[in-house]
Amino acid sequence: MSSIEALAKIISAGVQDIEAQCAARGVAYPTPDVVCSSETDTIQNEFSSQATPIIAAAYQLIATLSHPQPYLLGMGLWGYFPTALAYIDATFVPDILREAGPKGLHVNEIAAVTKVHPGRLGRVLRFLATRHVFEEVAPDVFRNTRLSSGMCLGKSVKEIVESPLDRWDKSSGVAAIVSLNGHENMKTAAYMVETLLDPVTGWSEEPTEAAFQRGNQTPLPCYEWLEQPENITSLKKFPNAMRATTHYNSDKAVNEGFEWDKLPAGSLIVDVAGGIGNLTMALAGTHKHLRYVVQDRPAVIKAAQEHWAAKMPGAVEKGFVRLEPHDMFDPQYIRDASVFLLRYTTHNWSDKYATKFLTRMREAAQPTTKLIIIDGISDYLCRDTSSIDDIPGAAKPAAPEPLLPYPDSTIGWGYLMDLNMLAMMNCQERTVGEFVTLLGGAGWKIERICRFEAPLPQQVICVPA
Ligand SMILES: C[S@@+](CC[C@H](N)C(=O)[O-])C[C@H]1O[C@@H](n2cnc3c(N)ncnc32)[C@H](O)[C@@H]1O
Repeated sequence: MSSIEALAKIISAGVQDIEAQCAARGVAYPTPDVVCSSETDTIQNEFSSQATPIIAAAYQLIATLSHPQPYLLGMGLWGYFPTALAYIDATFVPDILREAGPKGLHVNEIAAVTKVHPGRLGRVLRFLATRHVFEEVAPDVFRNTRLSSGMCLGKSVKEIVESPLDRWDKSSGVAAIVSLNGHENMKTAAYMVETLLDPVTGWSEEPTEAAFQRGNQTPLPCYEWLEQPENITSLKKFPNAMRATTHYNSDKAVNEGFEWDKLPAGSLIVDVAGGIGNLTMALAGTHKHLRYVVQDRPAVIKAAQEHWAAKMPGAVEKGFVRLEPHDMFDPQYIRDASVFLLRYTTHNWSDKYATKFLTRMREAAQPTTKLIIIDGISDYLCRDTSSIDDIPGAAKPAAPEPLLPYPDSTIGWGYLMDLNMLAMMNCQERTVGEFVTLLGGAGWKIERICRFEAPLPQQVICVPA
């Protein structure tokens, strides 16, 4: 069988299998025109493992059948996708179309809400419709698809128009992360080539010498830049954007992997650089026998206080959850932690800086304290796992050829995030081997790794070395 046939077979057999399982249960796999709901989320989450190799095979088939010229020319312009999506968020289109319903709305009426050029908005919508984000149901009339409805904020358009800066609050965070990628991150990406070719910045581990500084014309590192008064929109957006990463298939991260329920009652979980406490909130909602502390920069903790008061009233007042400003590069004052948690934080720092805060936690750890790093792991794209075979859980099953070995990683956003990290702060996603070296340098060792299908993050469970 040729590789083209093999890929086509993975797609057709996989799709038939999903459809047969859906039919046996009397449900239908949602087509693109079915807008997002808890029902579509449930079905898609349930079948995500089965859908993953099919999606990977479809990408590989496109690459196999494409002539290099149109493939590369198209790829060279993909940067307009994030820009288009950020514009869609800024013009509130998903929620305007949600209110319009299945008949859709003429672009003149969509554009009137934010008083933008209707013809230009229509071109952006049509461009996105080529990839099934929106559908053009009649000339210049657009409606939501399941993909575009994933950006809805769940508020009335009236409410969004009256208070646009608050529009991402309490949403799934998808629109916020899309906006972040299309605005702040794209300005950064535009300066990556100059930054990497520069003999100083191209080798730098400093968060002040990344493409971010060139793109945003600032000497400040990303997190300090966010807190400048003129960047209030970005500061509002950022913690909401982080929530999107929790929302997707969130139960798995909380209920699977590390055995939270086996920790003794009253054990203290310290979520270092925990943002507004998105992960802690998910844990606290499920594992009520534990105590929690969220630490972050003072401005973020202020936002966290409002977030917890709105979403889990009473938790802070009763002392079940503490929200505390703390610079993670300072000595860690909590000495009785059962678990130090670091989610999506290690990847924000180069080894030079990550070693410093990991050392701070190691100095404060008891012999029984665990460190749980929840972050992406960069898989090598070859099939040689010999360097990680002795770490429990580190290697994961490889897909059969002709697929690339790890379909979940290749279709997920991990490798994109790795480049994003490089551009924003000269930092990175890490391979298992890179984690071993980094953690070893700070007095920790990996006990085991709990693998989740990407784009869910992995749990790297560490103990004092
Ligand atoms: C990518 S976010 C992750 C937030 C959170 N862990 C989550 O998963 O939602 C990284 C966090 O690191 C925080 N941070 C950056 N520098 C810090 C520092 N020196 N001390 C404490 N937190 C810091 C940021 O404010 C931000 O909330």
